[in-house]
Formats: sequence, structure tokens, C-alpha cells
Amino acid sequence: MKAWLLLSAITAFAIPVLAQVKGRDSSWVAPASESERVNPLATRIDLKTGGEKLYRKRCATCHAQDGSGTTRGPRLVDPDVQAQNDGALFWKVSSGNSHEGMPAFSFLPELQRWQIVLHLRALKTSE
Ligand code: HEC
Repeated sequence: MKAWLLLSAITAFAIPVLAQVKGRDSSWVAPASESERVNPLATRIDLKTGGEKLYRKRCATCHAQDGSGTTRGPRLVDPDVQAQNDGALFWKVSSGNSHEGMPAFSFLPELQRWQIVLHLRALKTSE
């Protein structure tokens, strides 16, 4: 009986914790010089589909396909994220924050990273 009580107590605690979406780190801010960079593909909406494919392959495991986040990565559709400039998002995707679990994607060609940023903006409009 005691063991059963303990087990149900553990389960009751563990399930909500496991289901929680990882929170964002508001102290992780892109340097101003990076944030000012303009997306060279800003007018190339036709390239967004490519960005979506890259996102599905590289990012969705942690941030979910619709950007709503998982236990491994925060929501990308939130106003705090979307309020950042393209340059800031590009910098974060490029350099990562590996000790917090966000890998660096500087190994991807620059234009592919900008394509991903195009897709991040599309996540916002689908919310
Ligand atoms: C292994 C899991 C993982 C993968 C894969 C991943 N991320 Fe992240 N991402 C994170 C985590 C964890 C954070 C939060 C970092 C922090 O708290 O400092 C984060 C943060 C971010 C942020 C900053 C959000 C903010 O609050 O300012 C952006 C933008 C982002 N990720 C985009 C991407 C994109 C785009 C990809 C794919 C190219 C990607 N991430 C792949 C785990 C991941």
C-alpha cells in the first residue's frame, strides 16, 4: 500500500514536469551589431519553403514543427522571440548557446540560415 502511494505521488509530480515546454532565457541577447544585420533574403518569400524543410530537419525535434516548443527547446512563436530582429535570430541560430542546449548551426551555409529565419517569421503568422 505504501509503495503504491509513493508511486502515485511520484507519477503525479513527474508527468506535469515532463510535459512542460522549456522556458526561454531572456538574458541571452544578441549583440547590437549582429541584431542590425538585415536578412538578404527578406524579399525572397519564394525561398521560405526551403527554410521550412531545413527547420523540419534541424530544429523541429526541439522546438516542434509549429514552433510551439518541447521539453528540449522553448517556444519560437512567442512575442519575446518574434520581437527580435532578423539579425538577432540569425546570430542565435548561428552561434547557439550550447551549455543551455541550443546547438550552433554555423556549419550551415549563411544563406540557408537566413532561409531558416524566413521560416521563423512564417511560424509567427500561423499562430
Ligand atoms: C537540441 C535541441 C535544439 C535544437 C536541435 C535547436 N534548438 Fe533552438 N534552442 C534550444 C534551446 C534549449 C534554446 C534555449 C537556449 C537558452 O535558454 O539560452 C534554444 C533557443 C533558440 C532560439 C532563441 C529563442 C529566444 O528566446 O530568443 C532560437 C531563435 C532558436 N533556438 C532557433 C532554432 C533553430 C532555427 C533551430 C534549427 C536550425 C534550432 N533552434 C535547433 C534547443 C534546440
